[in-house]
Order: sequence, then C-alpha cells, then structure tokens
Amino acid sequence: MIYPLPAVLVGCGATPQDYNLMTAAWVGTLCTDPPMCYVSIRPERHSYQLIKKYGEFVINLTTKAMARATDWCGVKSGRDTDKWAATGLHPQPGQVVKAPWVLESPLSIECKVVQILELGSHHAFIAEVVHIAADRRYLNPATGKFDLEAAGLMAYSHGQYYTLGQRLGHFGFSVKKPAKPKRNL
Ligand SMILES: Cc1cc2nc3c(=O)[nH]c(=O)nc-3n(C[C@H](O)[C@H](O)[C@H](O)COP(=O)(O)O)c2cc1C
Repeated sequence: MIYPLPAVLVGCGATPQDYNLMTAAWVGTLCTDPPMCYVSIRPERHSYQLIKKYGEFVINLTTKAMARATDWCGVKSGRDTDKWAATGLHPQPGQVVKAPWVLESPLSIECKVVQILELGSHHAFIAEVVHIAADRRYLNPATGKFDLEAAGLMAYSHGQYYTLGQRLGHFGFSVKKPAKPKRNL
C-alpha cells in the first residue's frame, strides 16, 4: 500500500551466457553515505540464485517506452527464456560489477551485496552502490542534473503502471520565502 514504487529491471548474472533481467518493485534507497539500496526478492526466482551466487546486481530504471518489456520480464523466468532476445533490450557489462546494465535504461545503478536479510517470503539484498551510469541525453549540460521528466520514467502502484504526473513543488518549497518584488529603476 506504500505507493508509488518504481518498477525497475534488475540486471544479474556475470557473463553474457547467464545474464538475466527481473522486474522488481520492492526496491529502494537505504542510505546516502555510504550510498546503499536494496531489492527484495523471493528465493524461488531465477534472479535470486544469480544475485546470491555473484553478490552483484544492477538496478535499471524504466521508462514509458520500456513498459511492455518491463512487464514481460516480471511474468517470465530467465530459467527458461532469454529475456534479452524476447524483449529486444540490450545488455552491457557494468563498469565495476559484472552484472549488466540495460542500454535502453536512462539510469543504471551498480550494486554489491553486503547483507541478505531473510525476512520471510522475500529476502532483502542490502547493497552498496558502487557506480552509476546515466544516459547523457537526460543530463542537463548546464547543471549536470539528471532530468527525470525528460526520461519519461515509469512508476508502479497497486498493480498498475504509470508515467510520473504533474510536478507540485520542489524540496523545501513549503518554507521558501516569497521573492521580493523587483523595483523598476
Ligand atoms: C511490476 C512487477 C514488480 C515485481 N516486483 C517483484 C519484487 O520486488 N520481488 C520479487 O521477488 N518479484 C517481483 N516481481 C516478479 C518477478 O519479476 C517475476 O517472478 C519474474 O518472472 C522473475 O524472473 P526470474 O525467474 O527470471 O528471476 C515483480 C513483477 C512485476 C510485473
């Protein structure tokens, strides 16, 4: 009931022969310094075994254009399907980890597992972020900031996929003092 969530593509495996992709919504940020995040996965998933084996994964953000492929990777298993061939998505080995980025993704976050919390139905992979690769097309050349709106990021809420809605304000806007009116000289 905590909404919205991202629906990311988790890249796992360490060689082109065992690269796999899994859709995950139980994913998030845990810490700024050191940068840490998590993904919570059922042990029966093929991806679970790969992440446990290699201790690495890549969180690839998804976009409107990737909606169909993202859903598909969340209903089929890499145990019996080549999800790359089936979706047309392209892998690229990480810079620091061996797990793959999805080239079509606007942002890929490379992670190294530091702890596995066996919670119940899902086990949470707690991981340190070791590298981030952003598609230059969405980087504002002046500020160096990643332009989320331009990337067309996708969110997931209660079984439905959405694009992000209207912007309501920026961090801290509620306490910002109104700008003083400029005097005409
Ligand atoms: C939108 C969406 C979100 C999902 N989130 C998770 C998740 O957070 N954890 C999980 O274990 N499975 C999740 N799944 C299910 C897996 O993606 C699915 O079982 C997939 O087939 C596993 O692939 P694999 O066997 O190749 O690893 C999600 C599926 C969808 C469609």
